[in-house]
Amino acid sequence: MTYSFSLPTKLVVSENAAQDLSQELDALPAGAVFLLSDQGILSAGLEKPIVQAMHAAGRQMFLYGNVPGNPNISDVLAALQVLDGARPAAIVGLGGGSVIDTAKAAGVLLAHPGLDWVDLQWGRAHIRQASLPVIALPTTAGTGSEVTHVAVIGDHQGFKKGVVHPAIFPRISIIDGSLMLSLPVKLTAATGVDAVVHALEAYLGRRANPTTDLFALGALQVLVGGLPEVTHNGANLPARREVALAATWAGIAMDQAGLGLCHALDGPLAAHHHVHHGLGNAVLLTATLDFNAAAIPAGRWEPLCAALGLPAAAQPAALPAWAQDFIRGLGLPSRLGEIGIGPDTIPAMAEEATRMAMIHNNPRPAGAADCRAVLEAAL
Ligand SMILES: [Fe+2]
Repeated sequence: MTYSFSLPTKLVVSENAAQDLSQELDALPAGAVFLLSDQGILSAGLEKPIVQAMHAAGRQMFLYGNVPGNPNISDVLAALQVLDGARPAAIVGLGGGSVIDTAKAAGVLLAHPGLDWVDLQWGRAHIRQASLPVIALPTTAGTGSEVTHVAVIGDHQGFKKGVVHPAIFPRISIIDGSLMLSLPVKLTAATGVDAVVHALEAYLGRRANPTTDLFALGALQVLVGGLPEVTHNGANLPARREVALAATWAGIAMDQAGLGLCHALDGPLAAHHHVHHGLGNAVLLTATLDFNAAAIPAGRWEPLCAALGLPAAAQPAALPAWAQDFIRGLGLPSRLGEIGIGPDTIPAMAEEATRMAMIHNNPRPAGAADCRAVLEAAL
């Protein structure tokens, strides 16, 4: 099989994000830095050492700390207003996937004056220039946005259609688990499940290849033990660092090999019920694996079984029970009913899931009736 693997993002696996950011900025052209973040990060004071480092380096800085969860294009435009027409030398995204995706969109828009993001979403316009350099500093271990070439930003109606282009890869990502020490328990668990599902879907997907398998299996091996540890003992810094890196590996696997049915169902679930992305994966994973288990080829099962730490004699049919136990062990719900979702919206969500691009990467073909059955099984 012919495949390509492209990761132009420089990864800095760091023990001091502020110091390493300052060093990386030294290699970029002179000029201002545009720092994007959110209220949770600012109230935890995570930006302070970074702001200090930039002042020490003599860089002018624009700070926007109001990126919301699930940002829309209006949120990106609001962030850009703080620049008041200035063109920064670099954009730094300090936060989770919402902040990093906003930084990516800002980088593209600043490189294309007058461009309408919605035109990009619908293919009426195209990225022609390199983005301004984006430096991602993830504060959650989960979304993988720090190593992907997609920016998921809602349009004016909030419809989330990602823009995919190689120019969207961050220039540099600085992975420092100490930025995650103050992440609340529920968010640690939910964003971590997202990373687990990235690795699982990348490994089981049709576009998986030997190179992405390295990242997916390596990520799973760390996450199955590390995620329960950081969820229940969030102050364990070595474990935070391991999980942060494993989530980045899962992101690499996902970006190169694609996703599957769980994420295809999660999109409509978020749209209809405003469920957090990671939590959505948690309540959908068991039923999705139950549907997919029979489609896992024998030769693919053994490495997965070992990475998950299951007994060597276990069969793919053991996957759903494993997923349910794992998710419950993190203190998260594992069914739609547990978060108050009933059958009413299932037909609409099932139909919308069939229009999600990643569904075509699922190891077992899934039409609308299959999606409906999986959602019903998840109730
Ligand atoms: Fe995800």
